[in-house]
Amino acid sequence: MPTPDLAAAQGRHLDALARAYAKILTAEGYDGVLLYSGHAHRHFGDDQTASFAAFGHFLHWVPMAGLEHGWLLIRPGARPTLYFHAPADFWHLTPRLPEEAWVEAFEVELRSETAPPSLPAGRFAILGEVDAELASSLGAEANPEALTRALNELRVHKSDYEVACLREANRRALTGHRAAREVFLAGGAELDCQLAYLGAARVRESELPYQNIVGLNAHGGVLHYQHYTIDAPARRRSLLLDGGHRYRGYCADITRTWPGPDADPAFAPLVEGVTTLQQRLIAALRPGVSYVELHERMHAGLGELLAEHGLVRCSPGAAVATGITRAFCPHGLGHLLGLQVHDVAGRVAADGSPLPPPAGHPALRLTRELEAGMVVTMEPGLYIIPMLLERFRDTHDIDWHRVEGLADHGGVRIEDNVLVTVHGPDNLTLHDAE
Ligand code: GLY
Ligand code: MN
Ligand code: MN
Repeated sequence: MPTPDLAAAQGRHLDALARAYAKILTAEGYDGVLLYSGHAHRHFGDDQTASFAAFGHFLHWVPMAGLEHGWLLIRPGARPTLYFHAPADFWHLTPRLPEEAWVEAFEVELRSETAPPSLPAGRFAILGEVDAELASSLGAEANPEALTRALNELRVHKSDYEVACLREANRRALTGHRAAREVFLAGGAELDCQLAYLGAARVRESELPYQNIVGLNAHGGVLHYQHYTIDAPARRRSLLLDGGHRYRGYCADITRTWPGPDADPAFAPLVEGVTTLQQRLIAALRPGVSYVELHERMHAGLGELLAEHGLVRCSPGAAVATGITRAFCPHGLGHLLGLQVHDVAGRVAADGSPLPPPAGHPALRLTRELEAGMVVTMEPGLYIIPMLLERFRDTHDIDWHRVEGLADHGGVRIEDNVLVTVHGPDNLTLHDAE
């Protein structure tokens, strides 16, 4: 149950959304838009489904990330109509609307069918996982580009309600992080850390916004490492845990790296170095700052760290110029965060023009100038990834003895979720609670 304050903030969020949709729909020449929450997909040839998360634009209105077969009709000047799929079903528990104030903002029609509702006369668009054939059977357009772009842009600036949800998702994720760290230090395997995380954060795996990355030792250097070993390694050098949570649809995306009891003495200072770099970059967050420039500052900082810790013999500038820092950190500084972990509109300007990542940085998901109300992740990393470092083998720029001494530690990533405000950064990831 949301607090009265959160419920009131959600009411204001929905009012503002209704006004913004009306303006966009009118400008784009539509009488309305039908949003589809989506449905879970079956494995091929099977009767079992993959886990499900509702479509972001549907979630922007309706805070139920697990709601399948929901349709939401938005028309300027009319109350939104929520077609809520609630069939009588003895195999499953029939979905129910929560007893929360936001429901009052909608006309609700409970229904047993999954097909879209029929639409009134006029020009309508359908957004969500629908094909053009289904849309045209209703006389509507499926996922028109200009309307989608305009609605994506609405999700870039977070309302007070959305910020509160993101903050709460962070709080819950950190509960999991703390429990997982304790289990790691007590000798747990990756699966033990994951189970401790889920238990403390009170969440099932399928409801996380992404599969937690729980990498012990060298697995920390596999950027999207996807397994959980069931046996603890003989030597515990490090844990890299990238773990999230979801609250009313809104995502947390937090990474911590911990040295283990068997870590090389050089590892903890490296973790500290990346943390300091991350805090420095966070301090620079404010409206008008180019995120690409911050990403470049991350590389300059990584060059300094590599030189300072003796991992490279060349100058920090040379480490950046030759691509060595990119081999140590092949991902971007971060991304927009919201109803999706990698939220929409990170690579388009507010006017819709494309903003591709700079040459040599294809993984950077956010290339915009920062604006108040954006929530971004800040996640510098430094990894030992042999397949990327190998091409520098003949340059003598890398101190292989030191690098190889750290290879079994995988790497370091420190990731926080930060709101950009006119007063500077508001870090939603509560450091003082760690
Ligand atoms: N957890 C995915 C990411 O950090 O982008
Ligand atoms: Mn992230
Ligand atoms: Mn992450």
